[in-house]
Amino acid sequence: MRIELIFTPNEVKEEELKDRTVLVIDVLRASTTIAYALHNGCKGIIPANSIDGAIELSKKIGRDSALLCGEREGIKIEGFDLGNSPFEYEAEKIKDKTLIFATTNGSKAIVKGSNANSLIVGSFVNFQSTFDHLSSSSNDLAIICSGKLDQFAIEDAVCGGLYVSSFLKEGEYQLNDAAFAALKLYEGYKNNLLEMLKKSSHGRYLIELGFEKDLYICAELNSLKVVPVLDQGKLVSYNGS
Ligand code: MLT
Repeated sequence: MRIELIFTPNEVKEEELKDRTVLVIDVLRASTTIAYALHNGCKGIIPANSIDGAIELSKKIGRDSALLCGEREGIKIEGFDLGNSPFEYEAEKIKDKTLIFATTNGSKAIVKGSNANSLIVGSFVNFQSTFDHLSSSSNDLAIICSGKLDQFAIEDAVCGGLYVSSFLKEGEYQLNDAAFAALKLYEGYKNNLLEMLKKSSHGRYLIELGFEKDLYICAELNSLKVVPVLDQGKLVSYNGS
């Protein structure tokens, strides 16, 4: 089986994904927020490529059952219900709601990977549950790091390296160079993920914005048992059936 890691969404060749399983990673913060939203009982999450597209979709679904969620430059989009801090996605606010999710990097990376045979959203908080799910598939794997404005983001590469490292403990895999590099980055930071997030450029930016506590929750390994899978354009919690 081949594992290809892709550092930024603009390197993704969508036409090559149809027979593959895709894992999308956006540790700070979209993947973590998606895991918390599904864990706290939202009905599903529709990733949007643009703010206008999200607003159009919310009108179609109806504002009584759909919440507009997302950020630009890390801050809640004006007129939206929720931003992108995992702390905002409390059960009482989102239970049984459909979330239309428009973030700068993560939601776009999911849309870019949606040609895949199957698509999973992973991060540190739901690593083990998503890894166990991915291990049951025999498809080649493409790991898409969401990055930051199509630039390399170390936190996504380190998280990608964690998945690569865990697969290599299970068997032989053909890796591309980016997967090798991510493996080495993970080995360098595996004992202090929070420190790595605090040093990362997006982490430093979020701290400046007053979101330091988001880094603590994003660094918590295996705090959630949830597998977000894309099902007809909507992320839902895989329930093992
Ligand atoms: C994103 O998807 O672009 C990020 O999660 C941005 C953020 O909210 O920090």
